Amino acid sequence: MPENASDSTSETTSATTPDTAATRAIAGGQSQIIVRAATTRDVTAIRELVRPYAAERVLISKDAVAYYESIQEFRIAELDGRVVGCGALHVMWEDVAEIRTLATDPTVIGHGIGGRVLEALIDDARAIGVSRVFCLTFETSFFGKHGFVPIEGQAVSPEVYTELLHSYDEGVAEFLDLDRVKPNTLGNTRMLLTL
Ligand SMILES: CC(C)(COP(=O)(O)OP(=O)(O)OC[C@H]1O[C@@H](n2cnc3c(N)ncnc32)[C@H](O)[C@@H]1OP(=O)(O)O)[C@@H](O)C(=O)NCCC(=O)NCCS
Repeated sequence: MPENASDSTSETTSATTPDTAATRAIAGGQSQIIVRAATTRDVTAIRELVRPYAAERVLISKDAVAYYESIQEFRIAELDGRVVGCGALHVMWEDVAEIRTLATDPTVIGHGIGGRVLEALIDDARAIGVSRVFCLTFETSFFGKHGFVPIEGQAVSPEVYTELLHSYDEGVAEFLDLDRVKPNTLGNTRMLLTL
């Protein structure tokens, strides 16, 4: 399954009852959404955000140690001080990075939280020097609105592909579309944003 894998929104919303008070407050402008860098103290909340999507095989649940090891890749969205969104940018090569683990609390999806986190990660991609951002997702409409386009085949040259084969990272294996991970990525769309 793709590290980032995605979902169908209608399925994910069914995972939890919408938080109507929170959604009314967002819509009414009384609530404040902030997006910030993650800290080690966010790992528990990140795992909670991933949990319902992992149950639906939309995202992969990882051991806590994996989130601590990659915590600097993460951005967090807070709604009135509550963690309601997360996402990560994983650099794969000089010019390519991947969006991973982008998740919004199912009770507050559709209010721009995921979009805010994604745009922050795209800013991070620019700052770190990559020129292309990859994602593997079911959320083609959402990513399309942020400039991603579906791609066929590989996003890197044969030389870089060979170098990336040395990676132990499962997400990189999915990026390379290796046979052993194809059952995990079934139905997902490969998308690329050119910065
Ligand atoms: C993908 C995901 C992160 C989006 O999170 P979100 O907080 O709902 O994102 P947004 O609110 O910014 O956008 C979602 C939709 O709501 C719409 N929207 C945004 N703000 C809105 C508002 N104020 N009012 C109404 N609709 C709004 C967006 O246009 C978007 O529509 P689209 O899906 O047709 O493109 C979320 O659905 C999720 O966690 N999915 C499971 C994990 C996943 O698939 N991750 C992606 C791969 S890593």
